[in-house]
Amino acid sequence: MTRLFEPRTLRDLTLRNRLAMSPMCTYACEARDGRAGDWHLQHLASRAYGGLGLVLSEATAIEPRGRISPEDLGLWEDAQVAPLRRVSRAVKAGGAAFGVQLAHAGRKASSYRPWAGRQGLAAVTDGGWPDDVVGPTDEAFSGATALPRALAGDELPRLAQAFAAAAARADAAEVDVVEIHAAHGYLLHSFLSPLTNRRSDGYGGDEAGRTRALLEVVDAVRAVWPAGKPLFVRLSASDWVPEGWDADATVRLARVLARRGVDLIDCSSGGAAAGARVVAHPNYQVGFAERVRREASVASGAVGQIADPRQAEAIVAEGRADLVLLGRALLRDPYWALHAAASLGAAPPWPTQYGWAIG
Ligand SMILES: Cc1cc2nc3c(=O)[nH]c(=O)nc-3n(C[C@H](O)[C@H](O)[C@H](O)COP(=O)(O)O)c2cc1C
Repeated sequence: MTRLFEPRTLRDLTLRNRLAMSPMCTYACEARDGRAGDWHLQHLASRAYGGLGLVLSEATAIEPRGRISPEDLGLWEDAQVAPLRRVSRAVKAGGAAFGVQLAHAGRKASSYRPWAGRQGLAAVTDGGWPDDVVGPTDEAFSGATALPRALAGDELPRLAQAFAAAAARADAAEVDVVEIHAAHGYLLHSFLSPLTNRRSDGYGGDEAGRTRALLEVVDAVRAVWPAGKPLFVRLSASDWVPEGWDADATVRLARVLARRGVDLIDCSSGGAAAGARVVAHPNYQVGFAERVRREASVASGAVGQIADPRQAEAIVAEGRADLVLLGRALLRDPYWALHAAASLGAAPPWPTQYGWAIG
C-alpha cells in the first residue's frame, strides 16, 4: 500500500489521493477579460483525468490591477463565474477536486507575459496598468517593475472584501477549495515580510502589524466560504535573506491561521527580495511543510522540485506533509499521477473508458 494514494479528507471534501497540481500561471486569457476559456478547461481537466486528487488553478486575480499580466485569470466580476464553473465541472468529471488560488500581484503587477519578447511593464496600449500598481510601500520590487503607490490603511478592508467577493464567486462556480496566495513577493507576502513592509501604521511594524492584512483577508474569506469547504494559504516560508521572513515566523503564523479556520498551509518560499540567493534542489522546501505540520498542528503541503514517485511517497509516508504539490512535472506529463501509481504498486485511477488499454 502506498500512502500517497490514500484518500485525505479536509472538512467535507475527500481527495482521492495526496497529489495536487500546484498553481501555475498560463497567461492564456487572450481577450484579457480574466475569463477561463477552452485552454484552461483542457489544461486543468487533463490533469484531473491524469489521476490527481486536487487540481489548483493558476493565480486568479481578485481585482484587475491585481493581475500579474493582462492575460491572467480573474474572479473580480460575476461574468467570470460561468466560464470557471465549466472548468470546475470538467475537473470534477475527471475525478479530482478543483481549487482556485485567489491572488493579488501587488507591486509585481502589470508585467508582460514571459514569452511576449518585451521586458518591463506592460504598457496601457498592451492592456497594462503601469500607473495603477499598489504595494505596502512606494518602493519598487526591481528596476523592471512598477513604482507602486502605497495602499492607504483605509484601503485594506476593501482589499479583504475583494478577496471575499472573489471567494463567493468561486463558490458559485462550484469550486471545492480556495487557496489564498500570500507567497512569492505578491501583495499579501509583501505585507508579511520585514524586507518589503516598512509601514509605520497598524499594517506594518511588528509581526502583529505585518500579518494583519493577511489575517483580515482570511477572516473575510472564511466568513463567506462555506464551512464544509477547505481553505488553504500559500506562504513563502522563507525569504532566503537573513533579515527576512523565516521558518520560525511561518510556524507562528500557521498556528494563528489554523485557529482562524485555515485547513492547510502550502509551503513555498522566496519572491520578496530580488537579490535573494535560493539554492533549489529536490525537496528543498519540504522541511518547511514538515515544521508547519509538526509544530503548528495544521495540515501542510510540500512543493518544489518533487518529480520522482518514490520521493513523493516518502514525503507523505514519513509524515512530512499531508499533500504533495507538483508543478513542472505536470507540465511535462499530465498523466504523472497515473504513472506514479503504477510504479508504486497502487491501482492507477485510469478513466474507465481507457480500460481496454490497460489490461
Ligand atoms: C509556469 C509557472 C507558473 C507558476 N505560477 C504560479 C502561480 O500562479 N501561483 C503560485 O503560487 N505559484 C506559481 N508557480 C510556482 C509553482 O506553483 C511551484 O511552486 C514551483 O514551480 C515549484 O514546484 P515544481 O518544482 O514542482 O515546479 C509557477 C511556476 C511555474 C513553473
